[in-house]
Amino acid sequence: MSPDRLHGGLEARSVGAVFFDASGASIQALHKVSAQFLSGHLTAIVGPSGSGKSTLLHALAGIVVPHQGEVRFGATVVSQLGERQRDAWRLAHCGMVFQDFRLIDELDALSNTLLPAQFQRARLPEVLRERARALLARFEVPLRAGPVARLSRGEQQRVALARALLLDPPIILADEPTASLDPGNGQRIADELHAMARAGKTVVAVTHDHKLSALADQVLRMTAGQVLLPQPADTASMVA
Ligand SMILES: Nc1ncnc2c1ncn2[C@@H]1O[C@H](COP(=O)(O)OP(=O)(O)OP(=O)(O)O)[C@@H](O)[C@H]1O
Ligand SMILES: [Mg+2]
Repeated sequence: MSPDRLHGGLEARSVGAVFFDASGASIQALHKVSAQFLSGHLTAIVGPSGSGKSTLLHALAGIVVPHQGEVRFGATVVSQLGERQRDAWRLAHCGMVFQDFRLIDELDALSNTLLPAQFQRARLPEVLRERARALLARFEVPLRAGPVARLSRGEQQRVALARALLLDPPIILADEPTASLDPGNGQRIADELHAMARAGKTVVAVTHDHKLSALADQVLRMTAGQVLLPQPADTASMVA
């Protein structure tokens, strides 16, 4: 059993998160959210727009810092790390697929996929370039020269997924990763995420896509910044 599993994997404990609007008024995006995300499990986070799904994902990644509670991964209390340590932790542990992709429009697909490695080291080993090409081929992204801005939304989404997987992270946090895909590609990406969980990774996906949530070991339903207790329909789809 891995040390992370022994220590409970990735975990949110009573996490509260607050934003401030332009006039300084506070918006409570998360209210005491507690949840466990075990390695080897695919968790789907579902719920209406504005319910805090992306905020929870960003809190798990150490991008949003909770004003109360904590995020832990194994023995590391991620939410208590300083900003640079959190950035380093995220780079080493998390593959992120952002809801808005966060690709660099001017760069091509391969350069975007290689970005996380470029933060890590000045000179890229050829093996990483090969891995990036293989990931793009696996997701059927055309290896065209030219900026990703000229790719379709669905192609851009798959570049974002390839980038998230480049460094083979133990945690994958994906925000609506099939939202821009046709049903066939959506099913393939859902199957890929499920297979990664089966291979031992901690996979958390915010999704409105039934193809993806049907494969989940755990479905967290959010409303107004809170996680609702599991409904019988969710427990029925849980894998023992
Ligand atoms: N950076 C921010 N500044 C201010 N308010 C924010 C910020 N990010 C999120 N919020 C607010 O926090 C709440 C939760 O937002 P969040 O993006 O987590 O929702 P969501 O469930 O992901 O919604 P969607 O399904 O539309 O993506 C919303 O009321 C949103 O307006
Ligand atoms: Mg969102």
